[in-house]
Amino acid sequence: MSSEYRALLKKLKLTGPLAFVDLHKFDRNAKKMADLVRPSGLHIRVATKSLRVPELIQRVLNSDPIYRGLMCFSAQEALFLSEQGFNDFLIAYPTVCPQDLSALKKIHDQGKEVYLVVDSIAHLEALSSIFQNSSRPFRVLFEVDLSLRLGPLVVGVRRSPLRTTEQVLELVRHIQSISSLKFSGFMAYEAQVAGVGDRNPFKPLLSKLLKPLRHFSAKKIAQKREQLKSRILAEFPQTEFLFNGGGTGSLSFNLPENQTLTELTAGSGFYCPHLFDYYSNFNLEAAAFFALQVVRQPEPHWFTCLGGGFIASGEPNWDRIPRPEANMKLSGFEAAGEVQTPVYSRTENLAIGDSVIFRHAKAGELMERFNDVVLIQDGKVTANAKTYRGFGQCYF
Ligand SMILES: Cc1ncc(COP(=O)(O)O)c(C=O)c1O
Repeated sequence: MSSEYRALLKKLKLTGPLAFVDLHKFDRNAKKMADLVRPSGLHIRVATKSLRVPELIQRVLNSDPIYRGLMCFSAQEALFLSEQGFNDFLIAYPTVCPQDLSALKKIHDQGKEVYLVVDSIAHLEALSSIFQNSSRPFRVLFEVDLSLRLGPLVVGVRRSPLRTTEQVLELVRHIQSISSLKFSGFMAYEAQVAGVGDRNPFKPLLSKLLKPLRHFSAKKIAQKREQLKSRILAEFPQTEFLFNGGGTGSLSFNLPENQTLTELTAGSGFYCPHLFDYYSNFNLEAAAFFALQVVRQPEPHWFTCLGGGFIASGEPNWDRIPRPEANMKLSGFEAAGEVQTPVYSRTENLAIGDSVIFRHAKAGELMERFNDVVLIQDGKVTANAKTYRGFGQCYF
């Protein structure tokens, strides 16, 4: 497939560095996830951090009514998207930064749906002073910790301190005295199921362990979510429940939970970066790529491209490095390079000026490297869509 993209870029006279998305594949991924979730009756909230291109976020929302609302990573991002005409924002990561709080107030005052995820009294205090003069209360969701704790071992992410139903109930009771805020449900993300593949060739041992662990953890998570919801409803029957869970990697695990969850989240699955090849529970197509141009040939079989880096966040490892085409490999010494990236191929006879096609390890981070992304369909460029960066937006 990569060689077809290479030929296409040549025909279109497009030279790297550039990012491109194959819209047919992008749309097929959106349809596959929608069809998977549809029988459960749940909605899918779109994780914008995994797209970072407003035109593509809109394309997903237009593709199927199952996609409803956005999960943003920053309040200022949500304000930007609100100004672009989007609605219904869940900001998934707490903030106490004054600029963020005033961004939330602006969206709220526009009458749009907006939720912030919080987990502590300090978060509630920061919000209550900002919203004290608002005409209607601001909605907050509590994040519940779903990491798997096996003795001293923590399998999952370290985010919320809310581990037990009692701790959650205490915070729900506390918020009742703050008239400017309204408790509106939960976000309960299970990173150890959603965010790690169980057939990662770069981590064979961990992958072996993860397979049974993901199933074990998913069962416990379902019980915990259900218990939490029923305890809250027993004491606060008026709670209007939004209950968000999951990500692309755990869609299939969460489907039986349609009595507890009200919605799932997905983002990375639309582009399907290479870390999402390493899951045994779904099969999506690579839809987002970048191309670098060969500018030097230091010795036979080595081709040095202009541009590089593009390392994904997370635990440093070879699985965070972009992957070149199937019959090419990176140098162990330089890896993904900095401003130049050498690739080795015994079979490809590249010329100076040719492109090499790569896939990023993660989804949205690729778009932080470009001002626009080339959208390709049926062998043609349909648009150059601006990324957040192209709009001059940079959050963190
Ligand atoms: C709270 C939350 N929900 C969902 C996701 C999953 O998003 P994706 O589908 O892009 O993996 C993430 C990813 O980091 C997250 O932090």
